[in-house]
Amino acid sequence: MSTTETAGAFGSRPSPFPQAATIFGVLRYALLLAPSANRVYADAAGRLARAELTVFAGSGVLDAPPVDAAVERIGGVEYLTFAAPEPGPRDLAHLANLSAAYALFERVGDDLLRPVPLHPLARYDSDLITIPKYTGKTNEQFTRLLLNVTLLASASAPRMLDGPVVVLDPLCGRGTTLNQALMYGYDGIGVEHDGKDVDAYAAFLRTWLRRKRLKHTAEMVPVRRDRKLVARRFETVVAPSRDAHRAGATQRVTVLHADTTRAREVLRPRCADVIVTDAPYGVAHGSRTDAGLSRSPLDLLTAAVPVWRELLRPGGALGLSWNTHVAPRAEAEAVLTAAGLRVVDGPGWRDLAHRVDQAIERDVLVAVAPEENG
Ligand SMILES: C[S@@+](CC[C@H](N)C(=O)[O-])C[C@H]1O[C@@H](n2cnc3c(N)ncnc32)[C@H](O)[C@@H]1O
Repeated sequence: MSTTETAGAFGSRPSPFPQAATIFGVLRYALLLAPSANRVYADAAGRLARAELTVFAGSGVLDAPPVDAAVERIGGVEYLTFAAPEPGPRDLAHLANLSAAYALFERVGDDLLRPVPLHPLARYDSDLITIPKYTGKTNEQFTRLLLNVTLLASASAPRMLDGPVVVLDPLCGRGTTLNQALMYGYDGIGVEHDGKDVDAYAAFLRTWLRRKRLKHTAEMVPVRRDRKLVARRFETVVAPSRDAHRAGATQRVTVLHADTTRAREVLRPRCADVIVTDAPYGVAHGSRTDAGLSRSPLDLLTAAVPVWRELLRPGGALGLSWNTHVAPRAEAEAVLTAAGLRVVDGPGWRDLAHRVDQAIERDVLVAVAPEENG
């Protein structure tokens, strides 16, 4: 990918050709990437943003899909640039949710940027997502990327802006995916075998909801089968305002303290529209299966993916990130395919791999369940 420097951008004089961009009925845009994107992905931020935009463009949700996406430096700052026929409000509402989006500009002539307001989905204050900090947290911006591309591959893509959508993270840790689901206005279900993580998430959410004075219910209850304790369930029902609560426009987050390979004992089949999960990296966290603690997430995935597949609705999608140092892409793909899922491929999809640190090279796979007849 070429990175070009555009000289003289942000000039104060109007361009002599202010309509140049529209001559062919196509407008040019420059998306400023959030500064945090560079901290998360180092030099891969632009490439990942371009891949994500390409997935949006190919998903069918946009009336005027962007073309010619490129990473460019304008005035010394990195932008994701693209062209599109003038996008309508719904297209802009979609693009506002690109995980690295910070500000969007229409390019006027060669040297002017005209701001285009963006309104990302944000049901709650952003500190719902940014406050939790702990070892093993999946970066929140990457979590949003993973949720976006998974949703866009699923039959729920047309409901991205308005829901209803149920997001399941079957390895949910302390709930980064669940908080992102809340932020988008969706319902969330999590499964986590580490009781400390479940308790920490429940404590955080309770405190946060109280501090924000949001009307809600929250409870932790035992789950029994044949009088035996099989799990604990934390459940909260919340709405972003009193009016929404009164109107019954509530969201539900459920976290099960259980082993994900036994998730069918505690969750109904077809309960999720999308499954979004960041597998243990085999570095700090191992993967627990019945056989014990393993360094490779492949053992866990082999045992868990067939179970997760049953939890997906027809046309649902499973988005997985994992460390390719401990499990090659082809083997992770084989696990998904063996469970009857179709791995999504095409423009953008193979360009989401990136380095996290010395020990972790993270990649993304999204696979969809068949839309069946009955
Ligand atoms: C990479 S972390 C996910 C972190 C999470 N996305 C977050 O931001 O908090 C993977 C999680 O999988 C959990 N895990 C590993 N094996 C499991 C199993 N068999 N059942 C349930 N959870 C498991 C680990 O405890 C860990 O919390």
